[in-house]
Amino acid sequence: MIILGIESSCDETAAAILKDGQLLSNVVVSQIDIFKAYGGVIPEVAARSHLEAILPVIDKAMQDAHTDWDDINYIAVTHTPGLLGSLLIGTLTARTLSILHNKPLYAVHHLKSHIYSNWLPDNSSSTPKSAPQTLPQFPLLALIISGGHTQIVQMTKHNDFKIIGTTLDDAVGECFDKIAKILGLPYPGGPSIAKAAQTGDPHKYRFPHPKVDNLNFSFSGLKTAVLRTVQKECSVPINYPSYDLQKLLTPTQISDFAASFQQTAIDILLEKLSLALEQHPNTKSIVFAGGVSANKALRERAILTFSSHCAGYGRAIAAEPRDDGREDSGDEKLKLSFPPIKFSGDNAAMVAEAAYWEIKTGAKPTNPYKLTLAPRSILC
Ligand code: KG4
Ligand code: ZN
Repeated sequence: MIILGIESSCDETAAAILKDGQLLSNVVVSQIDIFKAYGGVIPEVAARSHLEAILPVIDKAMQDAHTDWDDINYIAVTHTPGLLGSLLIGTLTARTLSILHNKPLYAVHHLKSHIYSNWLPDNSSSTPKSAPQTLPQFPLLALIISGGHTQIVQMTKHNDFKIIGTTLDDAVGECFDKIAKILGLPYPGGPSIAKAAQTGDPHKYRFPHPKVDNLNFSFSGLKTAVLRTVQKECSVPINYPSYDLQKLLTPTQISDFAASFQQTAIDILLEKLSLALEQHPNTKSIVFAGGVSANKALRERAILTFSSHCAGYGRAIAAEPRDDGREDSGDEKLKLSFPPIKFSGDNAAMVAEAAYWEIKTGAKPTNPYKLTLAPRSILC
């Protein structure tokens, strides 16, 4: 079974070819360099860039995989959620190719794809070739942490999703991006904050944890708390323009703010995930998904947190503080899974992987003449 995956939900144009679960090619053209100059994504510009890139990207993915249209069995495309103009380019291209080449079309939810990035093969040099890849097991809890979403999802089997926690306001990735702007760090904010935090003191500034019921999250209060503390530290009033604060901060203050904010955000995420695990003690795997899952401090902290959490319940965890997050261990242990770093951001390999499991579980293809778009929609 050969699947062509296509992704264009935000500022990456991507295509990949997956054959029976093996990745034959993976092409990603990022618009990060364009949006660095603006400090964020401009939807109109993103859509135009997708329009320029999408056909060459698909062509390159097919060439890299030594595949032609006769070989392709299915086309999979991200259809929601995302920027409307960006989604339009990817979906219209996929619909046209599906009709032209008479291939069944699978319209895949972006967050489902992020979860399925944990099933992608990891060929990075840090993985010993002899190490078997241990895939997540059901029932699992997935922590989705991207630029637009923060959710805890329970899966009892493939292609079966239940949202058990969600953010009531901002997403955690959005919060990283906004704090980076305040600190004068370049777009995208997540990696910039992570880098600045390496030399900062995570205990220098204390920020309150939101009081949100159940497994839900809130990040807008943290954003405001960081802004107010920066203003206080710079001895300026609260109506001082946030874009001018960076000029008043020293490099040490910037690193300390980055480290303290990152630590608080990670603590908030892992507290809720620990609570979710207490409420679902039969969980076999915890899966991290979305751009923020690339954060090294989060990965290390998660392993520590769940080692001590599980020890209290007479369980052990299977995870090593390696970049690929793969582990080998007995079935009785709680497995932590992180996507290979190169698949934690937006890519089309995860779209093809998600479609692969849709097809395997009997989901029907979409009518390419009727596919409609919903820029915002819930994973179900
Ligand atoms: O999943 P993603 O690539 O796109 C969306 O679906 O939104 O996530 C993008 C988000 C951005 O907010 C970006 O700043 C954040 O992921 N991000 C990170 C890191 N790398 C990317 N956040 C924290 N640490 C990182 N290393
Ligand atoms: Zn994404």
